[in-house]
Amino acid sequence: MLRRPRRNRKSEAVRNLVEETSLSVKDLIFPMFLVDGVKKKVAIDSMPNIYRYSIDTMLGEIESCLKLGIQSFDVFPAYSDSLKDAIASESYNPETFYLKALREIKKEFPEVCLMSDVAMDPYSSDGHDGLVKDGKILNDETLEILARMSLAQADAGVDIIGPSDMMDGRVGYIRELLDESGFTETSIMSYTAKYASAFYGPFRDALDSAPKFGDKKTYQMNPANSQEALIEGDLDTEEGADFLMVKPALSYLDIIKLLNDNFPLPIAAYNVSGEYSMIKASADKGWIDNDRAMLEVLLSIKRAGAKVILTYFAKEYASLMK
Ligand code: PBG
Repeated sequence: MLRRPRRNRKSEAVRNLVEETSLSVKDLIFPMFLVDGVKKKVAIDSMPNIYRYSIDTMLGEIESCLKLGIQSFDVFPAYSDSLKDAIASESYNPETFYLKALREIKKEFPEVCLMSDVAMDPYSSDGHDGLVKDGKILNDETLEILARMSLAQADAGVDIIGPSDMMDGRVGYIRELLDESGFTETSIMSYTAKYASAFYGPFRDALDSAPKFGDKKTYQMNPANSQEALIEGDLDTEEGADFLMVKPALSYLDIIKLLNDNFPLPIAAYNVSGEYSMIKASADKGWIDNDRAMLEVLLSIKRAGAKVILTYFAKEYASLMK
């Protein structure tokens, strides 16, 4: 035998020399859930170790993450039903707790990279990402609302806006309004290939944002398709996106690779709530090792071609690396 691949695996030092992919805390964005009020840190049953924070406790949590080397955060708001309506008007109310909190985070920690979410679902009485009429999700009418929401978030000082709604044309529509309004430096991380997935369940529990009727299949992508991701990637690139995101990550590693092979923009992947909770649940039963599974999953997303990973494991990973 002339060729023996095992020679390159014979010791840790040699394995390190030939290791192709490396993961760093700097690659991670930590998604966090915000609620109104003070002194709140509320557990989420379906997401062990993840909490809904009020702004005061969230600032403390961000500070402890910064000490561990995490630099980027994506904040999602949980609104009570009384503040929801058909047109998501609370989303661009300048006095709403979400926008105030984003402002406060940037004021307290100007060095963080702060990302915000653009979609109607947390504010919508229909629980959909777009405007609903006669049981249909309207595309073009939704763009106006998403753009107002984006402008309000840019004005609050966020570094990256994340349109997660999957309406056609929204990246360009938002980009134009931001530019006209002087926010040329606000980045857009587009949810380029966002699939209609069963893995968002725990997130919808966390935000109480499940659709009130039907599903999201007329706007989120069909898990059976990959070619469509190329169309979405083309559009987002032309419309001025700064990052292309694939979501979820694990069942879509091929899509991460496809986008990375075809577009020069940095690819992000969202390691979603269900992917997190699946590991937590089986580790809790003693069926798999939490830390090893976490490391393997994050590494696989990186190896597939993601430069950036949004993950609820961010703090745990950073603590483990310290
Ligand atoms: C909705 C949104 C969702 C997630 C991020 N933004 C859920 C959905 O589309 O219903 C899911 C994230 C996760 O599961 O961790 N705009």
